[in-house]
Amino acid sequence: MKVLILCGSGHSGGSTERMCQVFSEAMISRGHAAEIVKISELNILDYAGDREYDDDMETMFLKMGSADLLAFSTPIYFNGCSSILKRFIDRLNPFWGSDLAHPEYACAMMCGGSPQCEFSHARSEIRSAANTVRMEWMGDLCLPGTDKGVIDEAAVRQFAEKISEKCV
Ligand SMILES: Cc1cc2nc3c(=O)[nH]c(=O)nc-3n(C[C@H](O)[C@H](O)[C@H](O)COP(=O)(O)O)c2cc1C
Repeated sequence: MKVLILCGSGHSGGSTERMCQVFSEAMISRGHAAEIVKISELNILDYAGDREYDDDMETMFLKMGSADLLAFSTPIYFNGCSSILKRFIDRLNPFWGSDLAHPEYACAMMCGGSPQCEFSHARSEIRSAANTVRMEWMGDLCLPGTDKGVIDEAAVRQFAEKISEKCV
């Protein structure tokens, strides 16, 4: 499979980025190709109606068209997705009722600082985006307690293994 991983955090060296790296390495070790895209480093304009956008979304649509699995990731901010990921999701608007090429599968990885972090809102937003693009939902990984700056890497590897087995 070709795995496209969207890093939805602008925090370089943070937990979300680490989650993406571990997932990518685990997928590669299982024979897949993986690419991490740091959305914060792209030029993505806010959705402002159906018009031409001169930004990096065109490249992302092409990448999505040739990927098999899209892995969203986000830190939890105020119980939801980061605005970095949400801006990207809002720009998936062209997939509404269109036959644009897209990955067959989608999954999500989320990390939140509190041990009691609430993940349901972010999960719901990301699943809604996956439904709109008509990607099959493969599941999500929720890592609470990441304020300590350490993530459960074994859980990420297990998640990659589960996704890898489910998709093929
Ligand atoms: C603006 C902001 C809002 C946050 N809101 C929450 C929250 O609602 N629940 C929670 O558990 N953690 C919250 N956190 C903590 C982050 O989810 C946590 O530190 C996460 O690991 C950050 O990911 P990063 O290392 O990739 O930046 C928040 C952090 C920031 C900066």
